[in-house]
Amino acid sequence: MEKTRIAVIGLGGIAQLMHLPILSELRNVEIAAVADIQKSKLESIKSKYGIRKGYTNYKELLENEDIDAVVITTPTHTHVQIAIDCLKAKKHLLVEKPIALSYKEAKLINDTAKKNNCMVMVGMNLRFRPDAMLIKSLINSGEFGDLFYVNCGWIRKQSSDEKWFMKKNESGGGVLIDLGIVLFDLAIWLLDFPPIKTISVKTFNQRTKSVEDSAVGFIRFKNSSVLSFEVSWSIHSEHDSFSLSAFGTEGTAHLNPLKAYRKIESTRIDYTPPQSGNPKHLYKKSFENEINHFIGAVRGINPLHSSSEDALIRMKLLEGIYKSAELNKEIEL
Ligand SMILES: NC(=O)c1ccc[n+]([C@@H]2O[C@H](COP(=O)([O-])OP(=O)(O)OC[C@H]3O[C@@H](n4cnc5c(N)ncnc54)[C@H](O)[C@@H]3O)[C@@H](O)[C@H]2O)c1
Repeated sequence: MEKTRIAVIGLGGIAQLMHLPILSELRNVEIAAVADIQKSKLESIKSKYGIRKGYTNYKELLENEDIDAVVITTPTHTHVQIAIDCLKAKKHLLVEKPIALSYKEAKLINDTAKKNNCMVMVGMNLRFRPDAMLIKSLINSGEFGDLFYVNCGWIRKQSSDEKWFMKKNESGGGVLIDLGIVLFDLAIWLLDFPPIKTISVKTFNQRTKSVEDSAVGFIRFKNSSVLSFEVSWSIHSEHDSFSLSAFGTEGTAHLNPLKAYRKIESTRIDYTPPQSGNPKHLYKKSFENEINHFIGAVRGINPLHSSSEDALIRMKLLEGIYKSAELNKEIEL
C-alpha cells in the first residue's frame, strides 16, 4: 500500500497533542516533513517521530518535498498566506480551525483551492465526535422529526494572556472564534445548514481587553428553527463544560452526556447507548476520526466533509455575530 505523504506546518500545542501522534500511528501515512519557525521544536519533533526532513521556512518544504497534503497548525493570522502557498503548490489541505481571520480570507482560500483543483478541509473536530455522529445519523433518518431548536454552550478557561489567541490581529477575535466557531459548526451541521435570518449577540470582556471572553446569543433561521448559545473563557463555574441539546418535533438529543429519545404517543423509545465514552476519550476520538476522514478524502476513498465551502457559511455567520455585538442589537444577515 502506497503511503500518503503528509507535511505538518506549525508544531505547537494542537499539533503535538493531536495531529502528530495520530498521523504517526496511521499505517497508510508517512509524515514526510515538518516546518516550524522555531528550530528547537523542529529538532525535537523530528527525533520523536523519526521524521527525516524539517524546515524553518515552509516555502522551502513546498519546493523540496514530494508530498500529497499539508496539515496547517500555525496561529490563525498565518493561515491565509500558508494555505495559498500550499494550494499554489497543488497540495490538499487540512487547516486547523478557524480557516482564517475573516470571510474575505476564507473566500481567497476557497477560490485558490478551486483554481488549483485541491481540497481544503477545516478542522471542525466536534462534528467527528462519535456521539455527535450518532445524533446526526438519527436526525438524518428522521427519528426526531423536524429539528426546530438547538441550544448549546461551551465554558472553558483560557490559560494565558500572553498567547497569540488573546490578540485580535492574530486570532481574529476571542472566545467566539476560538470555542464558538466549532460549536456553531456542530449546531448548524445538525440543523443541516439552514439559511440565517437574524442574529442577536451580546459579548463581554470580563477579564480580557482586546477580545471578548464571553458571549450569549440567539440566531433565527429562515426555516423557523432557532439556535441559542453561550460561550465563555471566564464565567465562574465549578467545571469546564460543553453541552448541546437538539429538539425535534418527535424527539430530543443531548450531548455530553449523550441521551437520545423519541416519543411515539405514550411510548418513549430510547436510543441512548449503554456507554458513550468519557469526555477525554471522545475528544481524542474526534481528532482521530477527522484526520482519518481527511486522509480518506486525499486517497479518494470518501468525499470531503467540513470543506472550505462550509467555512464560508461559518465565517459569514461569525461576522454577523460580531456585527450584532458591536451594534448591540439584532441584525438581519
Ligand atoms: N480544534 C481544536 O480543538 C484546536 C485546539 C487548539 C488550537 N487549534 C487551532 O490550531 C492552530 C494552532 O494553535 P496552537 O494552540 O497549536 O498554537 P501554538 O501557538 O501552540 O502553535 C503554533 C506553532 O506554529 C508555529 N508557527 C508560527 N508561525 C509559523 C510559520 N509562519 N511557519 C511555521 N510555523 C509557524 C509556532 O512557532 C508554533 O510552534 C490555531 O489555528 C488554533 O485555533 C485548534
